[in-house]
Amino acid sequence: MRDYDLAVIGGGPGGYEAALEAAGVYGMKVVLIEKDAIGGTCLNHGCIPTKVLLHAADLYRQMNECDRFGLCAEGVSFDMKKIQARKKEVTDSLRSGIALMMKQKKVEVVEGTGRIAGPHIVEAETPDGEIRRIDAKFILIATGSAASLPPIPGADLPGVVTSDALLEKDRLFNHLLIIGGGVIGMEFASVYNAFGAKVTVLEALPRIIANLDKELSQSLKMLMKKRGVTILTGTRVEEIRSAGDGTGLLECVYTEKDAAQTVTADGILICTGRRPVTEGLFSADCMPETEKGRILTDAYGQTAIPGVYAIGDVTGGMMLAHAATAMGKNAVAHMNGAKAPVNLQVIPSCIYTDPEIASAGLTAEQAKEQGVVCKSKKIVMSANGKTVLSGQERGFIKVVYEEETHRILGAQMMCARASDIIGEFAAAISAGLTLEQMAGVIRPHPTFSEAVTEACRV
Ligand code: NAI
Repeated sequence: MRDYDLAVIGGGPGGYEAALEAAGVYGMKVVLIEKDAIGGTCLNHGCIPTKVLLHAADLYRQMNECDRFGLCAEGVSFDMKKIQARKKEVTDSLRSGIALMMKQKKVEVVEGTGRIAGPHIVEAETPDGEIRRIDAKFILIATGSAASLPPIPGADLPGVVTSDALLEKDRLFNHLLIIGGGVIGMEFASVYNAFGAKVTVLEALPRIIANLDKELSQSLKMLMKKRGVTILTGTRVEEIRSAGDGTGLLECVYTEKDAAQTVTADGILICTGRRPVTEGLFSADCMPETEKGRILTDAYGQTAIPGVYAIGDVTGGMMLAHAATAMGKNAVAHMNGAKAPVNLQVIPSCIYTDPEIASAGLTAEQAKEQGVVCKSKKIVMSANGKTVLSGQERGFIKVVYEEETHRILGAQMMCARASDIIGEFAAAISAGLTLEQMAGVIRPHPTFSEAVTEACRV
């Protein structure tokens, strides 16, 4: 008889949701080991705090533009210290909610660093240096990811930060230089731009948010440019150095079309991707298979070590909170011989810029690469009542479908509430619905989501 049915290492949205599912749905006796704060990157240094900043930034922009709605707001200003306090209030509240749910479901939470010492043994080193040996039938690794820093000389200079540090700042940089035009880069570009700071983005690839549909990249680049953000693509960052003029400014040397250029800023954000966190996690005789740092698993999350599963960012792939949660639920179901409850084939992704960007399923390009005969249909949001009355930027929704059957394969959009609307398409793709079936649903008027009917009308 083992002490626990399941030991979870890592308390992010992958780990804590899996622990709750294991205890609540399957009645497993669960212990969760977390070295930092419960909630993981998502709640403490990622999704939630970023969205608090983005929400404040959006409100600030709207207040400054409220004249067109017939409203007057004079002397609009912001206080980063108060925004930070608000961020803390939100994250504290969500953390207490998780702690309460853990208590209700009788999940034991151990503060400490977990290490897998054998197929069923986790050693947790607590903050006072005590080692607690935990014997569990199953182990679930959900240790997440951390910012991966490219070897740029000068990346350790003061003023060069990752998103973790930037989120904690209670004073904005005057000019933020962002290295990496991916999801994190463009969300921070949106925040800083809305608060009136100067923003420059250096991206190595020919386009920003390169893993998404081309039209989304182009539209976002155009919009950001219109708002005053400088976006330089196809660049190679060579070095960061002090401007040497006693002002504390930094100089970033980069190459664009083989010509060396320099940009000066008081803050530099490096957001060039994240890497799985596995340091110190395994004893020498109990190592799972890995590839470029990510733990390899089968479709159920099983690693090469019997009884040991891994989910979320630590397994690479789409490093998204909701993907980790879904993987955790499926892994726990597998431990209990149950059918996987979540379809992992369709994982929506969102960028919380203003307007938002969202995508699910295949782009037309990807469908064609897979040999699917497909078509795509695009509608612009300028005829959507809610978009016009609320003064949103023009946006669009694109639907990719199989030509013969009209089965929906994917959707990409840039518009207000895209992150909510995409849920409809994720459900449709997952359930194999056709354009006609989606268009045959009555959606309330006036709403942003009624544009889905329009986008699916044949
Ligand atoms: P990313 O992979 O989205 O973007 C990194 C970008 O940096 C890429 O465009 C890449 O080409 C570029 N790059 C790499 N090396 C470079 C260099 N030396 N110079 C210039 N550009 C360079 O990674 P990011 O933005 O750091 O985000 C990490 C993870 O966090 C992603 O998996 C993302 O999906 C996730 N995330 C998701 C969010 C959301 O769902 N809204 C929000 C924030 C992060």
